[in-house]
Formats: sequence, C-alpha cells, structure tokens
Amino acid sequence: MTVDTTTGATPVQWERFLARRTQNMKGSSIRELLKITQRPDVISFGGGMPAPELFPVREIEEACKYLLRQEAKQSLQYSTTEGHRPLREYLAESMCRYGIQHSPDNILITTGSQQALDLIGKVFIDAGSHVLTGRPTYLGAIQAWRAYEAEFVTIPLDDDGMQVDLVEEAIQKTPVRFIYILPNFHNPAGTTVPEDRRQRLVEIARKYDLIIVEDDPYGALRYEGQDMPPIASMAPERTIYLGTFSKTMTPGLRVGWVAAPEEITYRLVLAKQGADLHSSTFDQMIANDIAQRGILRAHVRQLRAVYRERRDTMLDALAEFWPEGCSWTRPLGGLFLWARVPECIDTKEFLVKALEKKVAFVPGVDFFPYADGGHNAMRLNFSNAQPEQIVEGIHRLGLAIKEELAHHA
Ligand SMILES: Cc1ncc(COP(=O)(O)O)c(C=O)c1O
Repeated sequence: MTVDTTTGATPVQWERFLARRTQNMKGSSIRELLKITQRPDVISFGGGMPAPELFPVREIEEACKYLLRQEAKQSLQYSTTEGHRPLREYLAESMCRYGIQHSPDNILITTGSQQALDLIGKVFIDAGSHVLTGRPTYLGAIQAWRAYEAEFVTIPLDDDGMQVDLVEEAIQKTPVRFIYILPNFHNPAGTTVPEDRRQRLVEIARKYDLIIVEDDPYGALRYEGQDMPPIASMAPERTIYLGTFSKTMTPGLRVGWVAAPEEITYRLVLAKQGADLHSSTFDQMIANDIAQRGILRAHVRQLRAVYRERRDTMLDALAEFWPEGCSWTRPLGGLFLWARVPECIDTKEFLVKALEKKVAFVPGVDFFPYADGGHNAMRLNFSNAQPEQIVEGIHRLGLAIKEELAHHA
C-alpha cells in the first residue's frame, strides 16, 4: 500500500466496499469502440446510431420555443412518474393501429427503453434468476440484467430470429423469470420473427405461464414487406412491450415507453420512482409535440427511404467486395446486419486490423452472454454512414478479410 506523500493518507481499498453485483458489471466494448470511431477519418459500422443529418432539428427548435413561451410552468416542472398524459394518450392510440390495445394508464414513459430494461431487471430478477433470450442478443439487455445478477438461458437464432421450437425444452430444464425477444429487425442479427413463430411463442408462454418482454425499437423502420402483429397484440395479458423514439426521432431526447398489464406497469412505476422520479418533462413534451403535429410520421417515411438505400448499398457492396466463405443476413428493416467470415478469422482480433484500415464494426462475441458464439461474426450498422462511405468501408473490410485468409492459407 503506497501512502500519498502530500497528504499522508493511505489509499482507499475500494474493492472492499463494492456490492457483490458490481463484479458482474462489465464495460461495454461498444462504448469503448465509440471513442475510437468518433475520429472523423474512421468509417464506423460500429454504433447503433441514427443518421444525425436527418434529425428533425428545426421542428425540435420550434417545439422548444413553443414550450418555453407557452408552457414553461409545466414543461420545466416536476411531473408524474407515469409520464406526460397527452403523450401516453398519443402512444395508446398509435399502438392501437398495430393491434396493441392498452389504455394510457397501462403506459409508463421511460428514459429511453434502456431504462425500461433496467426497471424490468429491478422488478423481476433476483440473484441467480434466469432470463431466456436469443443467442446473440442485445448487449444493453445483458448489461442491464447482469447488474441484478441474472443468469441467461440462450436460444440460438436462425434467419427467422429466435428458434422458438427450442424454447419449451429449455424452460423445462431451467425455469425462467421471463422471455426476452426482439421480434423486428433484431439487434444485432437483423432478423425478423415470422407470425407463426410469434404465435408458437405465445402458446408456450401461456402453457408455462410466462411473461414475454417484447423489445421493439425498430418496428417502424421497415423497408419492405408487411408489418407483423406485435406479440403484445397476441398476448396482451402477459407481454411487456418496449418502445422508444430513439430511432424514429432522436436518441438524445431519451424518451421511451413501456406498455404492459396494469399490475406490471404499477410495479415498474414504483421501481422508476426510486431511479429518477420521472423522465425529463421537457423532453417528453418535445416528443409529444413532434408526434402530435404529424411531424414524426413524415420523418419516419423519410428515414425509411434513406435507410433502405443504405441497406441496399451495403448488401450490394458485400456481394461485390467480400470473398467466398462470407455470409450475411438480409434485414427487412432496422439498422443492422450480421455478417460471418470464415471460421479461421476471430473478429475480435480482426477488429484491430480493420481499425488500421480505419473501419469499425462490433465483434459478434460481444452479443453472447456467455461468449459462446459469434467468434467469426460481426454486427454492421448501415444507418450512420453515407452510401459512398458504406461502399468504401465494405471494400476496405473485404481487402482486410482477404489479407487474413492469405495469412491463414
Ligand atoms: C434492442 C434495443 N433495445 C433497447 C435499446 C435502447 O434504446 P433507447 O434507450 O435509446 O431507447 C436499443 C438501442 O440501441 C436497442 O437496440
């Protein structure tokens, strides 16, 4: 132990004081990566970020001015934990169009859907509780629930998302607190679960009396085909539906929501009171203004057109520049696709080579709770780079893969 020579104090042994659960808290490699990818010369397929040049800046500026001039007393004040009532009314009505029938009383506004994941952990997970999730799965959910000392039962994905046929046997072996599923345009896999699989999952959840957490940040960003019925419309009695404006408006507002049976919403409200009392009143009222004035709908139409083009550009570039032995998913919407390279390449090590060529991605293994897969896979984001950069970045990655293969030959 070294003593500080200026103060004479011995350093604090922090480790002794930390709660046991902090041992499960690991830094996200995405966050670490984002630091590198903020350099302007790096083409980043790494983060899950929307295109900043498309943010509805002018409309948000108008909403801010209006709120400060006309509604300052309310928008700058504390508000209820449940959230801004007109926004919850808007959400109840808009979800109804997708067949989710909940009253505004069943809706809780959260600070992004990341907070909803955390609150779900707080309400449902004891140390050692199991959560059933896909393999791979959303990294932020793993992080949120690890902090509550969760364990994971993982079900592999195929091109149609979670292999629901494997769920029943898995839960017979290990009882779980809930099932976590990303049915639309999965992060990271880019897959969408077909209607019959959703139905099958609902049957299993009913048979074993289980809760389903349906995380749907990308549902509105569909580039082809028909919308699928949300699981919350099929099993409203046992589904906790998570939505967010992060991908359709801006992530910086941090406005998301939960729609769930009343008993569950009530518990989540109690959990949220201890976390932050309520989400920013001002941000909720901006989101409400943008949504109610019809700006959101027009904006989503624009996002769909731009992101569809970027997705197609990435798919074409992959087909042109990547060598044989590579494969990738073809997402119908969302922000990501999942690419596999030949087994001899470990994408975590390969990332260093890619960064030398000034291209970033997220290695697949990060999306596996027990690091038991994805070693030769990566998540590629296509929303945050211009089409020319996408072509250039995929080209550079293709060259780097070929160099690696030559090295292994
Ligand atoms: C599947 C999934 N869930 C939740 C979130 C969290 O979103 P936010 O907290 O910005 O609403 C994300 C963000 O990328 C996500 O991909």
